[in-house]
Amino acid sequence: MKILLTEQELQLGIERLAKQISLEYGERPITIVAIMTGSLVLLADLIRRLEMPIRVSLIQASSYRGGTESGNLDVNDSTMLDIQGRDCLLVDDIFDTGKTLTRVTERLKSLRPASLKSIVLLYKEGRQEFPLEPDYFIFKIPDEFVVGYGLDYQDLYRNLPYVGVMEQVDLDAHHLAHPPA
Ligand code: IMP
Ligand code: MG
Repeated sequence: MKILLTEQELQLGIERLAKQISLEYGERPITIVAIMTGSLVLLADLIRRLEMPIRVSLIQASSYRGGTESGNLDVNDSTMLDIQGRDCLLVDDIFDTGKTLTRVTERLKSLRPASLKSIVLLYKEGRQEFPLEPDYFIFKIPDEFVVGYGLDYQDLYRNLPYVGVMEQVDLDAHHLAHPPA
């Protein structure tokens, strides 16, 4: 698989972001709302580089229906912590059309946090269909389907330590190894 971001590049990027967050929030407690499942690995790496008091809250959103095309968005926030009056940071794996971040931001704002900012690991260029932009992104990437470091294709490849491009040969190999039931 073609590697787009190595383990080391990812770690450096997260370190840079953690410094920026620390500068901005100082010692203020923050509530991180992470969109599962894609932001799992970023979440684990990021929170260990932050020293202020941190609450971690998870919500589930899925928009890809098995393939690489965006579908309807399902949001499950039944396990979310109370965020009213809290400084919140929303974390997602990738900003693609912007639908997920837009919908989840609307939902969180209705819960009246003291402040709300958003972070994404990857910003895919030229795909945006919504006016909202993330407050921070760690890497801009070209319009290609990527996997690894939390990102999946049909629920696999999240455990790759790098971000790789799922090219046609990789898709073919995947479908050979995992034929539809
Ligand atoms: P959006 O709602 O269109 O911005 O899509 C965001 C969600 O789609 C992300 O949270 C990912 O779960 C998924 N997604 C978008 N692009 C990719 C990709 O290249 N690889 C894996 N997942 C992706
Ligand atoms: Mg996903």
